[in-house]
Formats: sequence, structure tokens, C-alpha cells
Amino acid sequence: MYKLRKIRFSYLIWETFCMNASALAPMETMDPELRGMVERCLQEWEGREGNLIMILHEIQNRHGFVPREASLFLAEAMGIPMARIYEVLTFYHYFKLIAPGKHNLTVCNGTACYLKGSGRLLTELERRLSIKDGETTEDRMFHMESVRCIGCCGMAPAMVVDQKTFGKVAVTDVAGMIERIRLQEESDA
Ligand code: FES
Repeated sequence: MYKLRKIRFSYLIWETFCMNASALAPMETMDPELRGMVERCLQEWEGREGNLIMILHEIQNRHGFVPREASLFLAEAMGIPMARIYEVLTFYHYFKLIAPGKHNLTVCNGTACYLKGSGRLLTELERRLSIKDGETTEDRMFHMESVRCIGCCGMAPAMVVDQKTFGKVAVTDVAGMIERIRLQEESDA
């Protein structure tokens, strides 16, 4: 857990205080596939209004998160300060700065779900996965987070597991959800 926090903290400090992208950008170590994808996005959006955010969206959609190398590459290619890119990335919750887990467990913590015990679901997930809200397990198998209202308050408390919504979730259901994923992973291995 400490390691995860440390990774995030390092990324934040790194991006916040280092404005000179070229001094940081190990372009030659960038994954060629990622670099190709970013270059295609740059070509596609070249000269178009609002292109930075659209490119970041494409990277997020295709890659699952916006890696630091991609941000550095964009800063250099577009001639904009790293701080500006970082500002956009942190303003919108949609963007992720670290690789998400393979399986995502989302607990709705909106008012209806909160009143029906979503806090207990979060606590149970934290206990079973040994991570906190917003964190990913060290093996990157599970990511958990809480969100505000997912639009099915009548089913409170609700959870979304890998894009599938579950309603009226009991604390005792949590272990089974995790176990099913683990078993599936084992049988796919
Ligand atoms: S508050 Fe949880 S679905 Fe609306």
C-alpha cells in the first residue's frame, strides 16, 4: 500500500515541479506502440481547436490511462508546458495517471447507497484486497473506487464490477465477487 502511494506521490511531485519536459523525457525508452498511437492522434488532431483534450481522451480510451511518457511526448511535440497537460489531466476525473487494474470494482457512494450501507461494502473490499479506495492491488489485478450515484438508486447499495451493475449488494456478496474473478483468471491461465 505504501508502495502504491509512493508511486502516485512521485508522479504528482514529478509533474508539478518539473516544467521543462525535455529535461525529463526519456523518449527513446517510450514503448513504440504507445508512441505510434500518440503520433497518430497528433496527426489526426493537428491544428484543430481543443486538440489537447481530444488527444488525451484518445490516449485514455485506447490505453486505459495516460502514461507519463505520453504526457511528456505531447508536451514536446505540441510545444506546451507539462504543467498545462497536468492541469487538464487532474481537472477531469475521467483521466487516470496510473494503469488501472485488470478488474475494476466500483462502489456507488451516493446518498441512496450510502444510506443503505455502501460504506460497509467499501470497508469489506478494502479489507479483502488490502488496498484503499482509489488504489490498485500490487499485482494490478483489482482496482477499487467509490463514485457518486450511478443512476440506479432503487437498487441501492449498488456496485459495478467490470461494467456489470449489481444492486442490493450485501457485505456477504463481496467475497464471492472477488472469488469468481480469481477463479475465472485461474481457469483462463
Ligand atoms: S446513489 Fe447509488 S445509485 Fe444512486
